[in-house]
Parts: sequence; structure tokens; C-alpha cells
Amino acid sequence: MPASSDLSDRPGCVQWPLAQPWPLQTNELRLGVMASGEGSNFEALVTACREGPLRGRVLQLVVNNPGCGAMARAQRLGIPCALVDHRHHHSREQLDGALIQTFAASGVDLVVMAGWMRIVTPRLIGAFPSRLINIHPSLLPSFRGLDAVGQALAAGVTLSGCTAHLVSEDLDGGPILAQATVPVLPGDDRSSLAARIHRQEHRLLPLAVALAAARLRDRTAAAADPSAPAGPPSG
Ligand code: GAR
Repeated sequence: MPASSDLSDRPGCVQWPLAQPWPLQTNELRLGVMASGEGSNFEALVTACREGPLRGRVLQLVVNNPGCGAMARAQRLGIPCALVDHRHHHSREQLDGALIQTFAASGVDLVVMAGWMRIVTPRLIGAFPSRLINIHPSLLPSFRGLDAVGQALAAGVTLSGCTAHLVSEDLDGGPILAQATVPVLPGDDRSSLAARIHRQEHRLLPLAVALAAARLRDRTAAAADPSAPAGPPSG
């Protein structure tokens, strides 16, 4: 089999999550996105909102690196983009304070870290309880932290993938929303494996956002009426 073929797109390849109904969405989600680099996941979210299946709108992008690819994509897509440069802040808490202000001003419900390469503090996590989502290029809990793709290659695994999870104070350790797998093929390097993972991230992240929203909706309903039976599984 040629090394360039992508097993993950072949019928019969094991995929997680398995085919499932898209979570029921009653309200349009107002999304904020944080990105540090290329912004392909940011664009995938915008596309999923504009063309389906995600019922939502990306109201605000925040980047920390001037001139990054995500910024150019925001301009092309007509999404407001704010630069919150970590180099102009004395501490992580101060940086997170600026992020909170920016997102509060645009009135977002959920915030997605789509390739945000800074550690966030309890200040940001506390401002968006169960509403802060991260995408990470490994099958967590394996290969947390930096260079997850390189870590997977160095470990010699034959299966890798990506994980979308809620952000907690434990780095890359919050509750998992969804995962997708890809094979690691003979001859793979960082770039070929990262590209294969990216393709799955673009499908997984919109689903994870819908799952997070469904969780919040079910929790709110249960809190309002504790005697009501639990709703249908949200995925
Ligand atoms: C993605 O692969 C994402 O999983 C990763 O950065 C890339 C961003 O790509 N995030 C992390 O490593 C966070 N620990 P993009 O800018 O093209 O969306």
C-alpha cells in the first residue's frame, strides 16, 4: 500500500467516535475561538457553522501572534479578529484577563482553543466553566503537552489521532468530548502524520462543540427540574 494512502478515509477502518446522531441543537451557539498558528481548525469551525452541520456563529477570533495564518483567514472570512499578544502581558493571569474581556465584549457562549499554544490559567477556565474546549493532536491521555505528534512518532505507536476535551487545570487532562483515530504509516514524519491528524481534527472539532453545548443544555435542564427524567443521550 502506498505510504501516501490514508487508511482513515477507507471503509472498514476503525473510527472513534462511531457514527452517531448529531446532537440536537435548539439554539444558535455564539462561539469565540483562540488560535496561535495556521488557523485551519478555526476555519473548519467557521465552515461548519456556515455550511452545516454546526448551528452556530463564530463571533470573535483572538490570536496571540501578529501576522499568524489564523489572522489572515479571519480577514478573508470576515470574522472579527483581536490580537492579544502574550509578549505585552506580565503574567499568564493578565493575558487571560485580556482574553476574558475580549470574549465578554463579543458575548460568546463557548470558547474553543483551536491551536492555542499557551497554557491557560484557572482565571480563564473559571470564566467559562464547561465552556472552554481544546483540540489536541494525540489520543489523550497519551502524549500531553508540546509536540504531541513528535512524541507519538518517537514512541513508535501505530495508531494516533486527536482529542477534543473540556479544559481543566490539569494540562490536556480535562474531560474528553470526542476522539478520532488515524494510522501511523511506515515512513511517516511529523508533517505527514500531522496532516493526517489535521483532517480528522477538522471533522471532530465541530462535533465536539455540539457535544459540549448538548451537555450544558442537559445540565441546565436537570438543574431547573431535578425530578425530570434524563434526556436522550447527547452522543
Ligand atoms: C492542531 O493540530 C492542534 O491540535 C494543535 O495545534 C494545531 C493547530 O493547527 N494544538 C496543540 O498542539 C495544543 N496543545 P491549526 O492552527 O491549523 O488549527
